[in-house]
Amino acid sequence: MRRAIRQAERALGETNPNPLVGCVLVRNGVVVGEGFHARAGSPHAEALALEAAGRKARGSTAYVTLEPCAPNARKRTPPCAPRLIAAGVRRVVFGVRDLNPLVQGAGLRLLRSAGVRVVEGPCLPEARRLTQHFNSAMRLRRPFVSLKTGMTLDGRIATVSGDSRWITSKTQRAAARTLRRLFDAIVVGIETAIKDDPGLMPEPRTLRPYTRVVLDSGLRMPVRSRLVRSARRSPLILICVRGPAGRRLDLEAQGVTVIPVRGKQGRVSIPAALRALFARGILSLMVEGGSEVMGSFVRDRLFDEIVIFRAPLILGGRGSRAAVGGDNPVRVNEAVAMTRARREDSATVRYGLKASADLEVEVYERVQSRSARTRQPG
Ligand SMILES: NC(=O)c1ccc[n+]([C@@H]2O[C@H](COP(=O)([O-])OP(=O)(O)OC[C@H]3O[C@@H](n4cnc5c(N)ncnc54)[C@H](OP(=O)(O)O)[C@@H]3O)[C@@H](O)[C@H]2O)c1
Repeated sequence: MRRAIRQAERALGETNPNPLVGCVLVRNGVVVGEGFHARAGSPHAEALALEAAGRKARGSTAYVTLEPCAPNARKRTPPCAPRLIAAGVRRVVFGVRDLNPLVQGAGLRLLRSAGVRVVEGPCLPEARRLTQHFNSAMRLRRPFVSLKTGMTLDGRIATVSGDSRWITSKTQRAAARTLRRLFDAIVVGIETAIKDDPGLMPEPRTLRPYTRVVLDSGLRMPVRSRLVRSARRSPLILICVRGPAGRRLDLEAQGVTVIPVRGKQGRVSIPAALRALFARGILSLMVEGGSEVMGSFVRDRLFDEIVIFRAPLILGGRGSRAAVGGDNPVRVNEAVAMTRARREDSATVRYGLKASADLEVEVYERVQSRSARTRQPG
């Protein structure tokens, strides 16, 4: 299974919105075939491993990181469970279940009814990590949301004047750009888009098109910005509430997608934005700020984790920007409960970042109440 996991990881950042999947076929203690899912729409890991093994697949054990899919489960590629059966695979050992309602258990039932032995769960934490964003989105029916922030030791992301270049070190900024690869899309607020004029691309670049999203209630996005100028190469989605029709046409002429949604106090409603993105097949988001946007995701409890790049600086000062803005809570019990990610789920492991002396990254996961787990946006 470890070998299957390593196979899966070879496509890190390229399979979105699909999860990473690896498969290894073993017969008489010898690896006879292996493969990984390279990108959405390309063959599944099991199909590639079977192809590599040819006739040697007969009587083998398949180690696959994700439960094999069943007929009708996915439109783009033929289902894997019947293929494993047809190839004469005798045993299937899988890492984690697929929470896609179209798959859930169907492949396993098919395998069992054909007399294939099915074993679940070795290396569960590692296998879970490969599918975390995907399975979370399937369960909650909204994208997995990671808030990412670079802050001083006293929690500031910019001075009163809005100066934020650079709070984090070069190494930290590079690491933050690598994290982007793991998400389907990046989200920022329009103030960040205007003030920083960022490109919001991952580094190294992905081969797949990479989506950037700006929450821009009144369509203030400058047509000459880097984001708009690169919209033809890499999708740019503006989520708005209103905006001059002429401006919308100008932006769309540059290849920008404009999605109007319901407003909340004049601003983009976060639940509505998540619904619109989910409907377009976006299953994971990294929200990069600024503080107003962070504040809204936190207020609506529509996030799953916060990744903190902590810079060894103290800024101080009244009114300089704290990482999370929004309304002031009155009581401490309005605070959001978080828990530090387990050691095996630390940023270095989960996101494959190399540990170094000047790179401090913390991941805290939101403590989800039972009711929140089943709650859907809006
Ligand atoms: N250190 C870091 O990690 C980091 C990261 C990012 C940004 N920054 C800094 O943060 C500053 C910008 O932060 P900011 O807080 O001023 O602005 P922001 O969060 O980037 O953008 C806020 C704006 O987004 C729009 N918006 C639309 N829907 C929203 C919603 N539901 N909730 C909140 N905002 C919504 C609103 O403008 P409309 O009403 O016009 O839509 C709002 O004024 C910059 O100085 C930037 O350099 C630092």
